[in-house]
Amino acid sequence: TADEKLRDLLLAHIHDVPDYPKPGVMFKDITPLLADAKAFAALTDALAGLCERYGATKVVGLEARGFILGAPAAVRAGLGFVPVRKAGKLPGATLAQAYDLEYGTAEIEMHADAVGAGDRVLVIDDVLATGGTAEASLRLIRRAGAEVAGVAVLMELGFLPGRARLAEALDGAPLEAL
Ligand code: PRP
Repeated sequence: TADEKLRDLLLAHIHDVPDYPKPGVMFKDITPLLADAKAFAALTDALAGLCERYGATKVVGLEARGFILGAPAAVRAGLGFVPVRKAGKLPGATLAQAYDLEYGTAEIEMHADAVGAGDRVLVIDDVLATGGTAEASLRLIRRAGAEVAGVAVLMELGFLPGRARLAEALDGAPLEAL
C-alpha cells in the first residue's frame, strides 16, 4: 500500500546510532532523511496531508526537530507555524508548561497569543518517546484556548508508554506515527 511504501522510504533514511548520546541508547538519526530530497518531500507531503485530514488551522512544532518537520508541512498545507520552545527562548508573553523527565523536570513555552479560540492545532515532532514533551504541548494549546486537532510524529518508540501517557491530553484526538 501507499502507507507501506512511505514507511519503507522513511525507514531507509533513518539511521540507528548505538550508544548515543549515552551508552545503551539507540539514537534514531533523521539527518539522512532530511538530506534526501525525495524522502523529505514525501514526509512533508504526508504531514501536510494529515493537516488537511484533521482540519488543522495551525501547526505547532516542538523544538528542535519538530521545527524542521513542521515548518515545511505547514507551508505545504497553507497554514501558519507556531514554535513551542524550551523555556527562555521566546521574546513575547508566553505560557509555560513544566513536565516530568526520568530525572527532574523540563519546561516548554509558547507565545500566549500564537493560537486561540477557533484554532485547531496539529502538533508535529520527530519522535514520541515518553510522551512528556507532546503532552505538555497539548496542555499549552488548550490553555491558550485552542482545540487539539492531533499529534503527528515521524516515529513512535513503541517500547515506551508515550501513547498511553498522551491519551488523556489527546482527549480523543488522533496520534499518527508515520
Ligand atoms: C526529543 C525529541 C522529542 C522529545 C521526545 O527532543 O525530538 O521532542 O525528545 O521525548 P519525550 O516523548 O520523552 O518527551 P529533545 O528533548 O532531545 O530536544 P532537541 O530536539 O531540541 O534536541
